[in-house]
Amino acid sequence: MEIKLVPLQVHGDDRGGLIALEEGKNVPFEMRRVYYLIETKPDVRRGFHAHKALRQLAVAVRGSCTFLLDDGHSSQEVKLENPSQGLLIEGLVWREMFDFSEDCVLMVLADALYDESDYIRNYDEFLNFANSKEVRK
Ligand code: TYD
Repeated sequence: MEIKLVPLQVHGDDRGGLIALEEGKNVPFEMRRVYYLIETKPDVRRGFHAHKALRQLAVAVRGSCTFLLDDGHSSQEVKLENPSQGLLIEGLVWREMFDFSEDCVLMVLADALYDESDYIRNYDEFLNFANSKEVRK
C-alpha cells in the first residue's frame, strides 16, 4: 500500500507561516468540498469506510492523528503531524483514523460533494469490491 504524501510549501517570514492549497497545483483534483474534524475525543477511532470514486487530501492543520490505509492487499499507518504535508487518498482504500491529539484539527479536501452512495462501510464488501475491480483490470 503506497502512501502518497504531498509537500505543501510554507510561505514563512518573521510574521509566521502561510500555506496555500491550489487546485491543479498542490491539490491534484477539483476541490468541491472541504470539511474538518475537530474536538475528537480521546481513544476515538473513526472512518471505517472506503470510497468508490472520491479523491481526498487530508491535512492535520493543527495537532496530529494517525491514518490506517488499506488497499485490500496490505495496510499501512501514517501519522499526520505537520500542516505542510497532505495525505492523498484516492482509489479504493479503506481508511481508519485514530490517535487524535486533543488539539487536532484534521482538514480534508474532496473532489465531490458529500454522497452516501459513494461510501462502502462494510469491510467484507470493500474486499469484494477491491477483488472484483482487479478482475476487471
Ligand atoms: P461519518 O461518515 O460518520 O464520519 P467518519 O467517516 O469520520 O466516521 O460522518 C459523520 C457525520 O457527518 C455523518 O452524519 C455524515 C456527516 N457528513 C456530512 O454531512 N458531510 C460530509 O462531508 C461528511 C464527511 C460527513
